[in-house]
Amino acid sequence: MITSIPVNRVLTVIVGILMLAPLPLRAQDAVTDFNRDWRFSKGDQPEAVRELSFDDSSWQPVRLPHDWAISGPFDPKASGSTGKLPWQGVGWYRKKITVEGHEGQRVYFDFDGVMAFPKVYVNGKLAGEWDYGYMSFRVDATPYIRFGQQNIIAVEADTRRHRSRWYPGAGIYRKVQMTVTEPLHVAHWGIFVTTPAISDRRATIRVRSTIENHESTNQEVTVEVSILDPMGASVSTSKKRGTVPAGGSAEVDQQMFVSNPQRWDLAHPSLYRAVATIRAGDKTLGSQTVSFGIRTFSFDANRGFFLNGRRVQLHGVDLHHDLGALGAAFNRRAMQRQLEIMKEMGVNALRTSHNAPAPEVLELCDQMGIFVWDECFDKWDATADNLGGPGNVLPMAVRQLNNFVRRDRNHPCVFVWSVGNEIGTSVDERGDGMSFGRLAGMRDAVRTQDDTRPVGIACHTPNTVNYPVYDPLDLTGWNYGRRYARYREAYPDKPILYSESSSTVSTRGYYSLPLPDSKTDYPGGTEHVSSYDLSATSWSDIPDFEFKLMEDDRFVGGEFVWTGFDYLGEPTPNRRTARSSYFGIVDLAGIPKDRYYLYRSHWRADIQTIHILPHWNWPERVGKNVPVFVYTNGDSGELFLNGKSLGMRTKGVVPPGPRNTDYYDVTYRYRLRWDDVIYEPGELKVVVYKNGVKVGEEVMRTAGPPASIRLTPDRTELSADGEDLSFILIEAMDAQGNPAPLADNTIEFEVAGAGELAAADNGDQLSLESFQANHHALFNGKAMLIVRTKEGQAGPIRVTARSAGLKPATVSLQTMTPPHGN
Ligand code: GAL
Repeated sequence: MITSIPVNRVLTVIVGILMLAPLPLRAQDAVTDFNRDWRFSKGDQPEAVRELSFDDSSWQPVRLPHDWAISGPFDPKASGSTGKLPWQGVGWYRKKITVEGHEGQRVYFDFDGVMAFPKVYVNGKLAGEWDYGYMSFRVDATPYIRFGQQNIIAVEADTRRHRSRWYPGAGIYRKVQMTVTEPLHVAHWGIFVTTPAISDRRATIRVRSTIENHESTNQEVTVEVSILDPMGASVSTSKKRGTVPAGGSAEVDQQMFVSNPQRWDLAHPSLYRAVATIRAGDKTLGSQTVSFGIRTFSFDANRGFFLNGRRVQLHGVDLHHDLGALGAAFNRRAMQRQLEIMKEMGVNALRTSHNAPAPEVLELCDQMGIFVWDECFDKWDATADNLGGPGNVLPMAVRQLNNFVRRDRNHPCVFVWSVGNEIGTSVDERGDGMSFGRLAGMRDAVRTQDDTRPVGIACHTPNTVNYPVYDPLDLTGWNYGRRYARYREAYPDKPILYSESSSTVSTRGYYSLPLPDSKTDYPGGTEHVSSYDLSATSWSDIPDFEFKLMEDDRFVGGEFVWTGFDYLGEPTPNRRTARSSYFGIVDLAGIPKDRYYLYRSHWRADIQTIHILPHWNWPERVGKNVPVFVYTNGDSGELFLNGKSLGMRTKGVVPPGPRNTDYYDVTYRYRLRWDDVIYEPGELKVVVYKNGVKVGEEVMRTAGPPASIRLTPDRTELSADGEDLSFILIEAMDAQGNPAPLADNTIEFEVAGAGELAAADNGDQLSLESFQANHHALFNGKAMLIVRTKEGQAGPIRVTARSAGLKPATVSLQTMTPPHGN
């Protein structure tokens, strides 16, 4: 039986859900973009609120989302743990706006995230505030707005009290919307769609709409719901009346049926839409559209995870919220690109470690068929997320979880609600750690908003199972080192996920010899870490070790690798001089490290992977040993150096003779390794076989000195919306067209026409170069330039890259007027 969550029968049948449409809620609820024409100033500015006539013309014009700290400068003396960037402080934003409408209408500002402790003033009055920088919140501006006149909105963001284990960003770093409604309207996040019964023939769709009444008399409403299939055809409708009490709210609950439903699945994430229209008599008051998916999923404590009735191994990654050189300022395309790179590697699940993501992350995962472990907090007993102060964990958590779950509960991609990460126990409830009461309280807060998904937490201390703290939860995730073993003994009926695996550390394109004897022996020191993928931390392991674990422990639904991308901050094992992490499978600039191909070879049988490492430029090692590894989904291969065979290797065979310690034996199962190669410059070639049949070959050549620049944009046709991005890979090439793997030339960029320089980076954890300058050094032969379109300017963008002594390169991009306004 695929039942594993005994506490709640509903969870085993589970359900499809919905998401906010990519262009959300445009109909009669006037939802407008509120991101343009802001002005920003760093530092305390009390007069910005007190004096409405305050002259902010010298402030910096900004378009949200905005992260004031990413432009630096880096401070070499500042903590590497939070990225050496100036995120701590106070910042003010101001915006003038004339709001169209009439007395009686309601005006709300919806913030997706402000770092941190935002206070929102409307015409000099405090209209709302929030404490948790990662949480979306609504401000009711109705009492302070003057319709038809100019209004001043001022927002203070204050990160001085915010504590973090990574770079958090600073300011209004996610989008803001203004919603103008009639006094009778759908509540914030007030539509909830579930699919309580699903068969191949029919799905039951339940739509619950919460209606708020700000009138002084009770109101009769009719809610009309239409279900649209993935092609946009209406396939089911329902009309239902309800009474909403004066000054209160009421829920209208409707049930509909869809015949022959198309499932939301990883390869075909079909999305339906529910359009709910609110009428009073013959007057239409407002309308909202949400999209949703029809799918079943369940966890089995012995057999893992099931989607639409079949077992699926979760190939997950953990991602922090920053977008590398773009900082914390959310950008849809930058996020979409991260997810595309992950999906290409074989990822089918994401853990939003350790905080509520931007809502667009979930929209993208809905559309791309990626499951999401949606996580609300990191360590609510200790660092950033202990907002209520000692002894106030539960009320604080309940307040955040209410927003979190109501906001995200309609997304089919969300499959776990996580209430924290790596928290110690406080069994007697005296400390702020995990206790039965606290976890039961958090679970109940989630269930009040959504009882269709399991509630879990990510754990790290096996001894915590000695106390009954986990009893209230449906599942747990465990971080590293098979620490779930004791939990499995204690809770044999509860499912387990491996919420953090690996934490391998490496620097793209950097190799150090000899190979290490242990995972924490970082050859050459810790400033850069070798990319032979044999280095981890004391608490974690290399990818191969985790592959084996997941093959052995099929009761685990799957792993989430720490992390998919490098992120700003937490530069273990070099917290002193580095600014960004070493954990990523992909570097901070978005360039894959070698490991990327190891994961792809293991996770994707459907596309061929053959990847050789290291580079073949070792002038100082002629005649000395340089091991060669090949990551492939073939099962054997023959390596040739300058045409001479260096022998055949087969996966699963540990060669006799000297090698590094037993810990690494597992690598011979997933990699082809030639440990005894004696270096000479020239050409390395591997020919790969599967079941004795040749499947492909790959070549790596010694490069000559850098001679020219190559530019490779990820996209050349862009939207002229002022947000769209092209990521342009910059490489140094030798005279024969081979990538020059050690080049460190400084490249100057010129971006002309309908675009501008957004940022540049080279993925080097030690680089303290500005992300915004019009020049950047290559690191191990590569860097990434990010170009942004200009709003309303359709036309060509010409990007030129120059460097003394190298042939320059130019690339042309084209921007087009977006099909619809923002
Ligand atoms: C985990 C923690 C993560 C990150 C990681 C690095 O223990 O949950 O946030 O710090 O270690 O390996």
